[in-house]
Amino acid sequence: MVQANDTLLEVQGLKKYFPIQQGFLRKTVGYIKAVDDVNLTIKKGETLGVVGESGCGKTTMGRCLIRLYEPTDGKILLHVENQTISVTELNRQEMHLFRRNAQIIFQDPYSSLNPRMNLLETIGEPLLVNGIARGRDLEERVKEVVTQVGLRVEHLRRFPHSFSGGQRQRIGIARALVVHPKLIVADEPVSALDVSIQAQILNLLEDLQAKFNLTYIFISHNMAVVRYISDRIAVMYAGKLVELGTKHELLSHPKHPYTELLLAAVPRTVDRLRGQRTVTPGEPPDLGNLPKGCVFHPRCKYARDICKVEEPKLRALRPDCHVSCHFAEELDLQGIDTPARVSVPMAGVR
Ligand SMILES: Nc1ncnc2c1ncn2[C@@H]1O[C@H](COP(=O)(O)OP(=O)(O)OP(=O)(O)O)[C@@H](O)[C@H]1O
Ligand code: SF4
Ligand SMILES: [Mg+2]
Repeated sequence: MVQANDTLLEVQGLKKYFPIQQGFLRKTVGYIKAVDDVNLTIKKGETLGVVGESGCGKTTMGRCLIRLYEPTDGKILLHVENQTISVTELNRQEMHLFRRNAQIIFQDPYSSLNPRMNLLETIGEPLLVNGIARGRDLEERVKEVVTQVGLRVEHLRRFPHSFSGGQRQRIGIARALVVHPKLIVADEPVSALDVSIQAQILNLLEDLQAKFNLTYIFISHNMAVVRYISDRIAVMYAGKLVELGTKHELLSHPKHPYTELLLAAVPRTVDRLRGQRTVTPGEPPDLGNLPKGCVFHPRCKYARDICKVEEPKLRALRPDCHVSCHFAEELDLQGIDTPARVSVPMAGVR
């Protein structure tokens, strides 16, 4: 049982539906259910990996948690500085407090930086807009974080085009870190990088987490990356959480057939981040027209009649293992070996 003071973020019944509009009058004819009734608790200092195939709603969920998207429904509570912020009902003052505590790192280090802002302006902007620092104080804080992420203070007046992909992602990390947040949503932070650079950035994120007691929600389509970085893993399918558990248990004893399918695509012999997109057989569902019953049933080799009519709810099998499958107790699913510490490929380049 999570103690209240261990909890950083609580997500209750989170939904994000995008309207499907048609015709000259752009009439709403349905909804893409990108995030559909997600419930989660995130503990202070942990890394929750969020994994699932393309289009399952990972980014939409991350953006809702950080209030870049307005949720359609649900509650998000952030416990910081001896108070609870209701993220879905922020007033102006609370928005500043929230932004100081919750930040995001984007996937694409090329398009996420403004080409007309130099390093000092890029990293200093969150301090300025949130009224945290300005002038010399701002510059000192930027210099400090630039060093912490492995960039050089001599480059403060340089523009993004003069940095490599890995350096740009360090800039993105510095921009998130400069306000001293508690929570960072990292949305595919290494997917756009070369394999050797991926390892450096993952190591940097781990070092920063240890140093500043950061909590990460780490979104990736790549199970090998999630396997390396996470303490717990949430598996998403068609906008829903289908399994949530500790890394070791979920990888070695998956309880949902979709998790088993994802794990079957992870390279077995060497822990490589190569392999990139996890390819799973079968077609992902249309989020605007989901199948009845269990959303996974058209691809599930264990499906029975009840699966076509009754939707399984996410439920606790044990305190740290939640799954949405009618037959979770009786299925004997295939996991993968999980050594105590998974190595990062090319860790020598750290
Ligand atoms: N702004 C938007 N307007 C309409 N539909 C959207 C919007 N953003 C996302 N979607 C739809 O919501 C669904 C989930 O998209 P999302 O980007 O969250 O998936 P994802 O899991 O992050 O995928 P990927 O691994 O490719 O990044 C998709 O069907 C997508 O087309
Ligand atoms: S509920 Fe049925 S269809 Fe859904 S994952 Fe479980 S066995 Fe498969
Ligand atoms: Mg995404």
